[in-house]
Amino acid sequence: MTILEVQGLSKQFYVHHLRRAIPAFAGVSFTLRASEFVLVRGANGVGKSTLLRCLYRTYLPTGGSALYHAAGGPIDLARAADVDIVALRRGEIGHVTQFLRARPRVSALDLVTEPLRARPEQAPEARRIAAEWLASFGLKSDIWEAYPTTFSGGEQQKINLVRALIVPRRLLLLDEPTASLDAAARAALVTWLAQLKAQGVAMIGVFHHPEDIRDLVDAELYLEREHHVAH
Ligand SMILES: Nc1ncnc2c1ncn2[C@@H]1O[C@H](COP(=O)(O)OP(=O)(O)OP(=O)(O)O)[C@@H](O)[C@H]1O
Ligand SMILES: [Mg+2]
Repeated sequence: MTILEVQGLSKQFYVHHLRRAIPAFAGVSFTLRASEFVLVRGANGVGKSTLLRCLYRTYLPTGGSALYHAAGGPIDLARAADVDIVALRRGEIGHVTQFLRARPRVSALDLVTEPLRARPEQAPEARRIAAEWLASFGLKSDIWEAYPTTFSGGEQQKINLVRALIVPRRLLLLDEPTASLDAAARAALVTWLAQLKAQGVAMIGVFHHPEDIRDLVDAELYLEREHHVAH
């Protein structure tokens, strides 16, 4: 089952003080099926994070298409209305970044249970499910009720991961999700990802230590500077 068809996708940023567009990536094409894992590689600044953000629609792509086969039918992520993107983010597409955007005075437990509480059938069990996830990443239980704004980098990344993985997704966008994790948490994540992959979840990931996920990778997408032709 095809999940995503990306055709000639590109993104350039218009930088006002330079009065010109800076290309991030251009002409990216690939297809992703259920249970497939595509590893995105390339040098710093080549556009890996920007590609994932375009698919999550944090950024609007400037060219090409990204046809996502949603449960409710196909939708071009490069053109979809914001309201449709919000619905996809709630139910189908997850994005994990290296940095947590923690909201002030919201506890770790409240942050990670939020996606579950939006689903009435899982809301009563939210706390138990969240505790299981947090414990699996080795987040010590005495800080579960604390505010993640003061957490360490690795602790914040664990909160990010649990928030993204706690509800079932069809597509996961993983931007260096292990960059701040210790060895035990990295191993826990790889085990979770293998399990999700076996359940049919498709993934696109950038990994600082690609050897961690070597066994999960089905294809590699190289982004290169040669693609960076300014128009
Ligand atoms: N919001 C933005 N405005 C302007 N330029 C941006 C913006 N976001 C990213 N860029 C530029 O786009 C290019 C690609 O950045 P991106 O973060 O996608 O690279 P990357 O491949 O993820 O690099 P790294 O390996 O360092 O994480 C960079 O040159 C960056 O300066
Ligand atoms: Mg990046």
